[in-house]
Amino acid sequence: MPAMVFSAPGKTIFFGEHAVVYGFPAIAVPLIEISVKISIQALPDEDGIHIVNRNLGEDFFLDISDKSCHYQMIIMTILNILKINHLPSTKITISSTIPVASGLGSSAAFAVAMTKAISSFLGFKLPFEKINEIAFEIEKFQHGTPSGIDNSVVTFQKPVFFQKDTPIEFLSVGKSLHVILADSGIRSFTKKIVEELKIERDKHPEQINMEFKEIKKITTEAKEMIESGNLKEVGLLMTENHRHLQNLGLSCQELDHLVDVAVKAGAYGAKLCGSGKGGNVVALINEDKIKSIHSALIKEGAASCLYSKVRAA
Ligand code: PMV
Repeated sequence: MPAMVFSAPGKTIFFGEHAVVYGFPAIAVPLIEISVKISIQALPDEDGIHIVNRNLGEDFFLDISDKSCHYQMIIMTILNILKINHLPSTKITISSTIPVASGLGSSAAFAVAMTKAISSFLGFKLPFEKINEIAFEIEKFQHGTPSGIDNSVVTFQKPVFFQKDTPIEFLSVGKSLHVILADSGIRSFTKKIVEELKIERDKHPEQINMEFKEIKKITTEAKEMIESGNLKEVGLLMTENHRHLQNLGLSCQELDHLVDVAVKAGAYGAKLCGSGKGGNVVALINEDKIKSIHSALIKEGAASCLYSKVRAA
């Protein structure tokens, strides 16, 4: 049987990260220029699950008794939800262009692509809602207390206005969004940063909730501005959101610098995206400034830059 190939894109959060973990709304968009690809193929002549991860240089057969192996746990999560007790012998090959621990949704994309690959291999034709539900369970295993925004935007591959325990609202983008993602070069680990903020919130609930409430106002206003295509205002709101993330202690010198550079070079606005303390800055720009803003960011220390476009509806 030939290999079947499945993929899932990256994502960036425009507004509301962290606050979204506590039930406040957030806005995220897919980044279709980067993706995780998984090919899956039956291994009729071998026994076991052969994993090849091209990015990590891994090439091994799964030990099904090893509960510390995240591939094993992810596969078990998928099989349990599908009520299947055995995955026939297969080769699963993973390759990704999404940088890890950079706030661009690599773990959610991996969860979604694995869910699509294994369920399809087993003959399931899952609706997006079910893929999303399974990917969310995998995200819990990978991240502890995810809000669900990452797996949702990656599964549906559409801009979302997301709030926990509420049906997902898809955003109708009024004017195409041109963005540059500038990598600080510092890796950031979502689980740890979310846990640290929880400890802070337990100590100073009023102060942290006040920031979250301000972020909620910004996010709600931004939704209207994105829908009506008022990009200048969206940009200003992004930079304002960044200030609140700074107040929450989620930024760092490198991210602040990249935000300032992007804004000074003419971006409508910029902010850190994802868990923070490293990872990427997302800048909303005018199409004719792609080159100049890209050069300014690289010159001022961005480890790399990625351009992406979210098309108007
Ligand atoms: O850093 P990322 O790409 O995993 O994004 C995390 C977003 C948070 O709001 C910080 C956590 C969450 O689960 O929503």
